[in-house]
Amino acid sequence: MEGQTNRRLNKDGIRIHDPADFAGMRKAGQLAAEILDMIADHVVPGVATAELDKIAHDHIEAVGATSATIGYRGYQHATCISVNHVVCHGIPSPKKLLREGDILNIDVTVVVDGWYGDTSRMFAAGTLNRKAERLVNITHDALMLGIEQVKPGNTFGDIGAAIQKYAEGERCSVVRDFCGHGLGRVFHSAPNVLHYGRWGAGPKLEPGMFFTIEPMINLGRPETKVLADDWTAVTRDKSLSAQFEHSVGVTETGCEIFTLSPAGRFHPTWKS
Ligand code: MF3
Ligand code: CO
Ligand code: CO
Repeated sequence: MEGQTNRRLNKDGIRIHDPADFAGMRKAGQLAAEILDMIADHVVPGVATAELDKIAHDHIEAVGATSATIGYRGYQHATCISVNHVVCHGIPSPKKLLREGDILNIDVTVVVDGWYGDTSRMFAAGTLNRKAERLVNITHDALMLGIEQVKPGNTFGDIGAAIQKYAEGERCSVVRDFCGHGLGRVFHSAPNVLHYGRWGAGPKLEPGMFFTIEPMINLGRPETKVLADDWTAVTRDKSLSAQFEHSVGVTETGCEIFTLSPAGRFHPTWKS
């Protein structure tokens, strides 16, 4: 395969994609974002997280795309739905009914024409309380500050440093047990995109790199543990946790966000 196109690995083992590959990522990213746009109307008190997952799955099938998560390491659902103190990889369940004031992350990854689109955002069942709203806002801003660092010449450490400096400055903590990842024609590839770090550290960003940034920010301590189901990660201190995720591509001048919400619904306050 190498040599047929300009697709190649750089010295850090990170794939450099062709300018033409951005179109594939855009299409996959837009579908993933559209699924979350559509699900937003269904996030209400009383709904089961399995029902939200089914809505996502049905939509993926209806448009002829594929779920990247069904069958991935034995995972059986089209989404991860992580409520309140669940950090990530919450398993949709018919028994998990949303309650007034719950905050939840819904994470969806689709494959369109071989390209992966991976995005997640926060939702609220009913009205957000002040503490939860603050955490959601901080987490969203942390993601966008990380994305602002994405341009050729900056490093992956700059992304992590921007997120960490801001989140910790707001007296929140950055989860270290999970990270973002390269993606493209594969779900998870090099590099690990850490959400903490030092300015100038880590590999340099180059045009054609595709990866996710997906900070998980806690109101309490950063430590997590995985429950007996082998997936659900929770905060050890049971503090509230939030996460937002975009898939991005490095351009000559900055970056393209592949998973922007077509309906402008990326942030939960779009309703107000
Ligand atoms: N979408 C998640 C990520 O951001 C991965 C979920 S893997 C699953 O990387 F199997 F738990 F769905
Ligand atoms: Co991801
Ligand atoms: Co994801």
